[in-house]
Amino acid sequence: MSEIVLYGDPVLRKTAVRVQRFDDELKKFAADLASSMKEHDGVGLAANQVGRAIAVAAIDVTQNEEPPRVLINPSVIWQSDETEESEEGCLSFPEIRLKITRPKSVSVRAQDVDGNEFTIEKAEGLASRALQHEIDHLNGIMFIDRCSVLQRKLIEGKLKKLAKSRRSGEPAA
Ligand code: CO
Repeated sequence: MSEIVLYGDPVLRKTAVRVQRFDDELKKFAADLASSMKEHDGVGLAANQVGRAIAVAAIDVTQNEEPPRVLINPSVIWQSDETEESEEGCLSFPEIRLKITRPKSVSVRAQDVDGNEFTIEKAEGLASRALQHEIDHLNGIMFIDRCSVLQRKLIEGKLKKLAKSRRSGEPAA
């Protein structure tokens, strides 16, 4: 299981490199990412959040009804004009929740760990939100980049503390 990288670590700002080799190392990494997500009760986790800027994310929005879904090289190929505001959390920002407006529905193209392409058509609700949040991570974008100026102001102190704790505390993985 990997430790989760917290806000302040530069790896969260990196654009993930596309995966080219669908080998055993990738399969192991993807399985580890999925189990780390479950271990931390997340609905999604991007590779940056465990310290590696490669285009791999795990999603589990079914509350353990289905195995977590691993997405390699995911991208949004369609988004609805209609938007929706909802509260989000992020494992890299413990105890911070923000209201974020995003497209209500998205379609996502990705590959599985064997390199086979698949499309998630018109995801809605939590699935849509989690997909957008994780794909953002892979582009170096965090949910604090998408909240209102007022919300951002309100959490400024918490963010500073978080970045500081990361520097002076236990080394992040
Ligand atoms: Co996140």
